[in-house]
Amino acid sequence: MKDIFKVHNVDARKIGTIVKEPIVDVTITSPPYFNLKDYGYKNQIGFGQKYNEYLEDLRLVFEQVFDITKDSGTLWVIIDTFRKDGEVVPLPFDFSNKISEVGWKLQEVIIWGKDRTVPWAHKGQMRSLFEYVLLFSKTKNYNFNIDKVRDFQSLKKWWVKYPERYNPKGKTPEAIWNFDIPMQGSWGKGYIKHFCPLPEDMIAQMLKITTEENDVVLDCFSGSGAVLSKADNMKRRYIGFELNEDYISMFNNYLKETGKQKRKEYELEEKGSMEQNKFQKLILDLRALKFARLFYRKLKAEGLDEIIKIHVERSQATPQKVNSLFVIQYDVLVKSISQKNRIETFLNHAISKAPLSKFGIDPRFRFISNINDFYDLLSNKKLYSYTTQVTHKFKKEFVLEELIDLPKSDIIISRIKVNLDEKDYE
Ligand SMILES: C[S@@+](CC[C@H](N)C(=O)[O-])C[C@H]1O[C@@H](n2cnc3c(N)ncnc32)[C@H](O)[C@@H]1O
Repeated sequence: MKDIFKVHNVDARKIGTIVKEPIVDVTITSPPYFNLKDYGYKNQIGFGQKYNEYLEDLRLVFEQVFDITKDSGTLWVIIDTFRKDGEVVPLPFDFSNKISEVGWKLQEVIIWGKDRTVPWAHKGQMRSLFEYVLLFSKTKNYNFNIDKVRDFQSLKKWWVKYPERYNPKGKTPEAIWNFDIPMQGSWGKGYIKHFCPLPEDMIAQMLKITTEENDVVLDCFSGSGAVLSKADNMKRRYIGFELNEDYISMFNNYLKETGKQKRKEYELEEKGSMEQNKFQKLILDLRALKFARLFYRKLKAEGLDEIIKIHVERSQATPQKVNSLFVIQYDVLVKSISQKNRIETFLNHAISKAPLSKFGIDPRFRFISNINDFYDLLSNKKLYSYTTQVTHKFKKEFVLEELIDLPKSDIIISRIKVNLDEKDYE
């Protein structure tokens, strides 16, 4: 099995003779162009073929790829239209129809905008600045983790005070991707003389969306090996197929020279994204606490002023409210239960309107008038108090027995610890 994870100098139409089990998580590839490029050996797909033969050969390859792909697996294909006999041939769509015959399901059509393509155009034609990226899946239940590639920013002063305005999931990527094509030289001496390798960052984006570390990545037309080396850098296993031996040895040398350093860079980047997770958690904590502060003030303005303490706790429950991201438990200690009904009615109304409806919180309220019952809800671990003026910086750290000594103005209590100074985020 170990021998499988390398580039095979074997025709892609014979993949099934090398890989016999469904072990592939993702295939990322760009097929040889039709009738355009001579890669320098017999039997290559594309060169010297009729269009129908070419499509049939691709079907043969991707049928075998289908068979060796896991049910959760996906296939990314970078492919473009071309001109023949004075008209455009819609290869991406012909290709898509062809491989749907063997079971592949088209899931996304992405436009890859390349900035540094040839600066000229043929007379009377527009300048071509993009290619198609197609995503297919084997089944309806496929790996697709868009959260991995959301656009994040770092914490800013205004999010300390207005955490509800920061989308904790980041910006959803659009279906137009802009990645410059690698320039000559960025891959080392003469390395890309023969082909146009795919941009590393674009491959990384695909790998992040559809794979995890240790997954198996296939490129059935591996060329420069750009996909495979990125897979190796990102701690995935790789399998390649390539007819041109020279390309294979170039790839092996390239990986030997750069592999270690690139893995280090990847590890550093991954650490950065852990920081990102911490940041997202912080935004949610800020929201959970601020929500309590806002609803307390609204109740007070309404004359509902019998609230002694509000205990805020994260809950693992699944949010039910539309547009909510998380569930927060609010245990409200009231002087007497007499106001409870009015408070509840008012709150139900208030949370359905802005600003409270904008917090992404599905709140669960419990009203308690007996202090012992309230104590029973709290944990013995450290707690933090907040006033109804500031919820981005705790006022006091305390344990359960000290609750009774807390100043009256420390209304909000929680195990959530937030300790931010606005000026640190200017
Ligand atoms: C468009 S290029 C791939 C470029 C690659 N994505 C990269 O980043 O460098 C297509 C590759 O398929 C190879 N090829 C053509 N016919 C093949 C076949 N039947 N089996 C395996 N490889 C083939 C060509 O040698 C060429 O390297």
